[in-house]
Amino acid sequence: MKITLDRRPLHEIDTDVLVVFELEGKPLEITALQEFRDAGEITGKSGELTLLHRVPGFAAKRVLVAGAGKPEKFDAAVLRGLAGVVVRHLKTRAAGSVAFAIEPAAGLVMAVAEGALLGDFELDHFKSDRSGSKNIETVVLAVGAEGQPLEAALERGVVLGEASNFARQVANEPPNVQNPMRLAEHARTMATAAGLGCEVLDQKKMEELGMGALLGVAMGSDAPPALIILRYQPAVKGKSSAHLGLVGKGVTFDTGGISIKPAENMDKMKYDMCGGAAVLGAMQAIARLKPPIAVTALIPAVENMPGSRAQRPGDIVKTLSGKTVEVLNTDAEGRLILCDAITYAKQLGCTHLVDAATLTGAIAVALGVLYTGAFSNDSGMLDRVLHAAREEGEKLWHMPVDEEYREMMKSAFADIANISGGRYGGASTAAAFLKEFADPTPWVHLDIAGTAWVEEPKPHLAKGPTAVGLRTFVHLAEHWRD
Ligand code: BES
Ligand code: MN
Ligand code: ZN
Repeated sequence: MKITLDRRPLHEIDTDVLVVFELEGKPLEITALQEFRDAGEITGKSGELTLLHRVPGFAAKRVLVAGAGKPEKFDAAVLRGLAGVVVRHLKTRAAGSVAFAIEPAAGLVMAVAEGALLGDFELDHFKSDRSGSKNIETVVLAVGAEGQPLEAALERGVVLGEASNFARQVANEPPNVQNPMRLAEHARTMATAAGLGCEVLDQKKMEELGMGALLGVAMGSDAPPALIILRYQPAVKGKSSAHLGLVGKGVTFDTGGISIKPAENMDKMKYDMCGGAAVLGAMQAIARLKPPIAVTALIPAVENMPGSRAQRPGDIVKTLSGKTVEVLNTDAEGRLILCDAITYAKQLGCTHLVDAATLTGAIAVALGVLYTGAFSNDSGMLDRVLHAAREEGEKLWHMPVDEEYREMMKSAFADIANISGGRYGGASTAAAFLKEFADPTPWVHLDIAGTAWVEEPKPHLAKGPTAVGLRTFVHLAEHWRD
């Protein structure tokens, strides 16, 4: 999909479909629409789509009136979703070219570009017959002749949309194809194209460093583990003294290991590297948008399998930090790989950390599939992340990680256990485990187990991974102030 700005008057725009948004109670000044309003067919209700042919006075072949809902609820996030809905609607209706009429504002241009790219994207790579999901070739944003330059806003929307789709593609690879080294190859290819530094630590290197927790998880699989590291350095001028570390869980498949999971829905555990994919996508966008802060991404990648050399419940491993962990449940593997990656991020000089991980089923019990849980050891850092998420329309909810949760992770024989003794508060006890390794570095943990993929296709988005977290990461880096 190619997206460009078009400064011509609306009626001159020759395209298959011209899309106009109508808010509730704010009728557009297009005479031909009145008849439809009178008939109650056009009301402006959110998501309402009315496709009209040969509207007098317009060069476009068809005009799509898209309801934009209540004016007080309308913002860039709403428009991003609507652009996706429109694109998904038109894809199956022989529209090769689409024009969106919008106000000339940077936020709206970004939102439409992003939403259109996200909506257009299909995860049909492995289908032989892809004719059912045609893509729209050209999109123009009809912003009128007036107003400020909008090229940079368009570019940012395209960068974020493309990065998100890259992350979704990587996240959706089937687990027989995507093992840790394959994920590392994706990272390397992207890094080379984007001009990022890339280093992949293999098993031998991790043994030398002493990443016993990460390596313990990898033991049950024939596929060797990888710690993927990507580096972005800003130009010296205006550079921040901070160094942001982005850590993404990269379990390419989570069987649970010896503490094996039930069969139902186990296929979804190919998505246990969605945090890693979001970090990868964020780094691609960061390389293109060039924020003023150094960013290092770390993706610990393993496959959690119950092979004959797999770690057992009762094993005690030594982490990179020197602390020992009693592995009481091999299915609580995310925290084991993340703790070594977090420690390593600190050793590499990261001054601030954010991680994204499909860490616990408990977060989905608490928040459903609507909100990502945000846990932190530092209110300033939490505010930065919450702010970035709000600006990008990603829903985060602050969750607790008090000292008492750490106390529930006590082990009789090691420094800490990888599961708690009790049944409740599983998302917070998991976060308390990570906090043990992140402290005292300001850190936010995003538990995306409920939000990393959608189980059913949405009007604005195909079924599958969402790349959640990506936009928050990018925003955080772009708007960093010391
Ligand atoms: N990857 C899972 C968490 C998960 C579950 C993500 C469902 C998405 C959907 C994680 O590794 C895990 O197995 N967590 C366990 C922890 C428990 C053993 C303490 C869980 O949530 O059940
Ligand atoms: Mn698990
Ligand atoms: Zn997992």
